[in-house]
Amino acid sequence: MTVDVVPVALGARSYEVRIGPGLIDRAGAEVLPFLKRRKVAVVTDETVAPLHLDRLMASFASQGISATALTLPAGEGTKSWTYFAQATEWLLEQKIERRDIVVAFGGGVIGDLIGFAAAVMRRGVRFVQIPTSLLAQVDSSVGGKTGINTAQGKNLVGAFHQPTLVLADIDVLNTLTTRDFLAGYGEVVKYGLLGDAGFFDWLEVNATDLSSDQAKRQFAVRRAVEMKAGIVERDETEEGERALLNLGHTFCHALEKATGYGDRLLHGEGVAIGCALAFELSQRLGLCSQEAPSRVRAHLRAMGMRVDLADIPGDLPGAEALVALMGQDKKVVDGKLRFILARGIGEAFVAEDVPPEAVLTLLRDALRG
Ligand code: GLY
Repeated sequence: MTVDVVPVALGARSYEVRIGPGLIDRAGAEVLPFLKRRKVAVVTDETVAPLHLDRLMASFASQGISATALTLPAGEGTKSWTYFAQATEWLLEQKIERRDIVVAFGGGVIGDLIGFAAAVMRRGVRFVQIPTSLLAQVDSSVGGKTGINTAQGKNLVGAFHQPTLVLADIDVLNTLTTRDFLAGYGEVVKYGLLGDAGFFDWLEVNATDLSSDQAKRQFAVRRAVEMKAGIVERDETEEGERALLNLGHTFCHALEKATGYGDRLLHGEGVAIGCALAFELSQRLGLCSQEAPSRVRAHLRAMGMRVDLADIPGDLPGAEALVALMGQDKKVVDGKLRFILARGIGEAFVAEDVPPEAVLTLLRDALRG
């Protein structure tokens, strides 16, 4: 199988996303042309390290690149001031200089955390993303959003800092649990829903094969990355179109907040439920036909994913409380809730003035199940 290359054209900040099998074993050769000296520092987590770190380090060694590695705890809690301080100080102790490269080797948490460390240490060093989760490969490793969570909410401290290279090794997806794979799939299907009805049609037919069929998996990752690259090229700092990538996210962030950002609800699961709710809301507002939310729900169900609020274990707060949690989302503009709604599958748009009663009624109905 060949490696697909998706360029992200951002002038002086342009880079490539390379997608294919075996890229971890080739990482040394892929990264070498970008190095000013044969030295990198790698940050990973305790889930990824035992599975893949030795191969990555061997790949750097094979190119004469000296590499050191820091392994942080896995999980959303690592995207915090505490680990930001630890990682940044460790990188400085490794004598990473302005012209060197830092490698973020993990899922979205490691990518966001180490991207942010790279953005601010020595006023900005370059970094390479080697995403190991489906979610990170199709979303968080591309586009330069970096940051950490604080007591006030998710991703409230961060920077736009584009990577120098992204290596998406589709072989690593074999080691994901079914739950993590499906959570990442929530972000894949989002691209079809927001802007490519043909891709959604393809996913309806082929997505159940993604965990076993490498060629189909590579195509799905590439198509998602192509769509993200296009959006980021047109709107790098989210002044407009990039907000479409937040389809399902206003609902998702409220649900994540209500469930404590943990095992009860993974981010990608919340995105999938949020997409189903966003299409239902769109239909109730007369923006799209009933067929669209029905197809979304049927596809997510066929994939074995969580679709309804009732699929989230444990109690949820009431509709008013969930709307209040949405109000704390950073995407609130002038006190108004902003939603990504759709005129049909593949036709999402930013809606600034959604009637609050429509959201409340939708959530009340959804909570009743
Ligand atoms: N994950 C949404 C974005 O990159 O804009």
